[in-house]
Amino acid sequence: MKSHGRLTAKPSLRPRELMTEPQVKDVWTARIVTLFPEAFPGILGLSLTGKALAQGLWNLQTIPLREFGVGRHRNVDDTPAGGGAGMVIRADVMDAALREAKQGSSAAPVIYMSPRGRPLTQARARALAEGPGVTLICGRFEGVDQRVLDAHDVEEVSIGDYVLTGGEIAAQVLIDATVRLIPRVLGNQDSLAEESFSIGNRGLLEHPQYTKPAQWEGREIPEVLLSGNHAAISDWRQAEAERLTKERRPDLWRAWADASSAADMDPTKDRQLSGASDQSRGHREPEKE
Ligand code: ADE
Repeated sequence: MKSHGRLTAKPSLRPRELMTEPQVKDVWTARIVTLFPEAFPGILGLSLTGKALAQGLWNLQTIPLREFGVGRHRNVDDTPAGGGAGMVIRADVMDAALREAKQGSSAAPVIYMSPRGRPLTQARARALAEGPGVTLICGRFEGVDQRVLDAHDVEEVSIGDYVLTGGEIAAQVLIDATVRLIPRVLGNQDSLAEESFSIGNRGLLEHPQYTKPAQWEGREIPEVLLSGNHAAISDWRQAEAERLTKERRPDLWRAWADASSAADMDPTKDRQLSGASDQSRGHREPEKE
């Protein structure tokens, strides 16, 4: 197991190898089962997530699947039962890797990054950030034997309706979206409140932003933003957020509009977060307005 971003040494009683690598204790931890441990930390080692990793605000451990392979060649996969193309990761091999991950934290959910999974949402990232961490399975080949997914109560999560070569990039997306929500990782927590999908933004996309110079290549900043009238600026931003959401994401718009009219009918109720930000409601195709 490789550990990235380390502050303090934590001894391990694991017999498989002498764990000399220091790890940060009691912080949000991502454990990643992968055939390509060298792909980590990748982009997560840079910028805010990288700084936070070095500061020990979160922890990253890779669990190289190959180490659990069988035979002289440390095989991790075999042909699919029932025939067909490609190879499937063996249940016994994945089971050994997941047992290793569970030694670190038995409470963390286990997620298999897969185009077949439920879509990743801001709400899910928020929930994960509040927990102890996550164990992520990065697939290659045709998939993973279903029995080991069932045995470990593994949830499948997708980062979008397209197919990647493997789960490593998807895992980095999930970790990035989650780690930035851990307190003290983002320098300015205010920026979280208004961004797209945030609770403060009530499930709408974020309004456009401008900065100096006031004139650029004949284009001007909308006058209201220079007016100093905070109420007018707030109204403009709300209207722009609504316009963009309606144009680009009819699914989010419909959920927001439904929640708004429900709130209008019941003055004790505030508008709720949109359905598309809530993993539990599942995926809905955008509809034409
Ligand atoms: N692995 C391959 N494609 C993926 C996707 N769209 N989301 C998550 N993991 C994947």
